[in-house]
Amino acid sequence: MSGPGFGDALGGDATPTTSYVLRVNGEARLIENAWIGENLLYVLRERLGLPGAKDGCGQGVCGTCTVQLDGVAVAACLIAAATLGDREIRTIEDLDNDPETADVQRALIEAGAVQCGFCVPGVVTSVCALLARVAEPSEVEIRRALDGHPCRCAGPHPMVDAVRIAARRRVPRQTHSTMMFNVIAPPTSGGAE
Ligand code: FES
Ligand code: FES
Repeated sequence: MSGPGFGDALGGDATPTTSYVLRVNGEARLIENAWIGENLLYVLRERLGLPGAKDGCGQGVCGTCTVQLDGVAVAACLIAAATLGDREIRTIEDLDNDPETADVQRALIEAGAVQCGFCVPGVVTSVCALLARVAEPSEVEIRRALDGHPCRCAGPHPMVDAVRIAARRRVPRQTHSTMMFNVIAPPTSGGAE
């Protein structure tokens, strides 16, 4: 004799589905008939064909699944995709188009922080989020940003060095951009008299 199923015990469908729109890399992407509990990492990789965020521990520990959510680095394996509404998700596939990302990638290589490479997309995503927020981060800020990215190959120190290198390169570029803007921007003083 078979007993009641899991769904019956809950008094309904054990795998309820829903359809929703996710904003990913600047585009609205429709997700149809998906289980409401699917995490963001699964949706990105298996439904949207974006494999840049890696599936490591599935428990928020390894950092390989990191994406940016409204500019903040988060573990995609811990977030139910259906709950995100119109929040902006950015993955390494889109970050790869930015020259600042190339700076970070080059700095990681120069500092000897890239070996097997499995942790690298997550590290780059977190470092780009940090440098977008803080142009010249302190060592504490760097280590805090890298805290969720245990690198089994190189350890933390080369990564910290890499962030310093990337930050040093980025600051002169931002200063130059600001100077250019000041040259071409119209005067802001002297309103209606
Ligand atoms: S797979 Fe998300 S933190 Fe490890
Ligand atoms: S380079 Fe291998 S885990 Fe980081």
